[in-house]
Amino acid sequence: MRKKIVAGNWKMNKTLPEAQLLLSEIDKYLQANSPKCEVIAGIPFVYLENAKAQHKNFKIFSEDISEHKSGAYTGEVSAEMLTSLHVDGSIIGHSERRQYHKETDEQIGAKVKIALENGLTPMFCNGEVLEERKAGKHFEVVKRQTEVALFNLSAEEISKVVIAYEPVWAIGTGETATPEQAQEIHAYIRSLIADKYGKEVADSVSILYGGSVKPSNAKEIFSKPDVDGGLIGGASLNIEDFSALIKTYS
Ligand code: G3P
Repeated sequence: MRKKIVAGNWKMNKTLPEAQLLLSEIDKYLQANSPKCEVIAGIPFVYLENAKAQHKNFKIFSEDISEHKSGAYTGEVSAEMLTSLHVDGSIIGHSERRQYHKETDEQIGAKVKIALENGLTPMFCNGEVLEERKAGKHFEVVKRQTEVALFNLSAEEISKVVIAYEPVWAIGTGETATPEQAQEIHAYIRSLIADKYGKEVADSVSILYGGSVKPSNAKEIFSKPDVDGGLIGGASLNIEDFSALIKTYS
């Protein structure tokens, strides 16, 4: 049975006291409740060390990772640095990295690979932009993103990857994909993996949905057979909404 996951992506939000408060609130909630899903907080680099030192009840991910082992890459953070802080994984290839930092599928694939080589769980993001959806190219786009970034991996390696499908037109817009739209493309992504690696491997990969997930819409989206949870932006920034999303799997 593949993992059900509720993951937050804080993006570039929270001051230090705000981050410390929310992390403590998540910890407190999890200690008082028995979630039926894995809980992950994807947080800014600057908070990783304290978060891992103080919070053991949920996983801590970075929001990016360098594809380079080490060296003259100003501002980047390496896999070895993340593992030295006992970080659990990394969000990789988020559409905002693709948009603002021009990350390519090849570069994202290298980030996934170096994360795996260092024992970090890669959370690989894919998803089409509005123009591609309107043109009916979303299957083609997600196929390319997934094949280029992931299909050099071995079966053992891809089994360790978490995929987050995030239609860019649904991120931060309130225009959530319908449960049927999410299921359709999740099933398609899983079929791509099955064609390459076999059904058993494909059925083991958790595929999360991201894009304006809220407590009001999560239950229906998460109930779909090929949706294994969510990667949450805005609704992960306060404990009321984030805990309500975790409770979706109670
Ligand atoms: O990575 C999750 C994020 O892109 C979704 O953002 O605010 O639409 O939940 P949001």
